[in-house]
Amino acid sequence: PFELVIASSGQIVTVAADQTAAQALEAAGVFVPVSCEQGVCGTCLTRVIDGQPDHRDAFQTDEERAANDQFTPCCSRARSPRLVLDL
Ligand code: FES
Repeated sequence: PFELVIASSGQIVTVAADQTAAQALEAAGVFVPVSCEQGVCGTCLTRVIDGQPDHRDAFQTDEERAANDQFTPCCSRARSPRLVLDL
């Protein structure tokens, strides 16, 4: 599990091992648009202010992935205990 911090509200959303970050956000009432849910389309791409995403998408380029300033919550997870999201 890891935590997402919603920058605009300070809300903390815990992502359980058996759910995606997008599912945890939705359950917490935080809207993120989702389409493919497989890391392909980029619809869910969300800016990351702090923390290290564990990228599992096929949408970003290697350079974008390495920058760690955005991630796809439909499938990607976190390497750090927390990700601060620009939401
Ligand atoms: Fe398509 Fe996340 S919904 S990449």
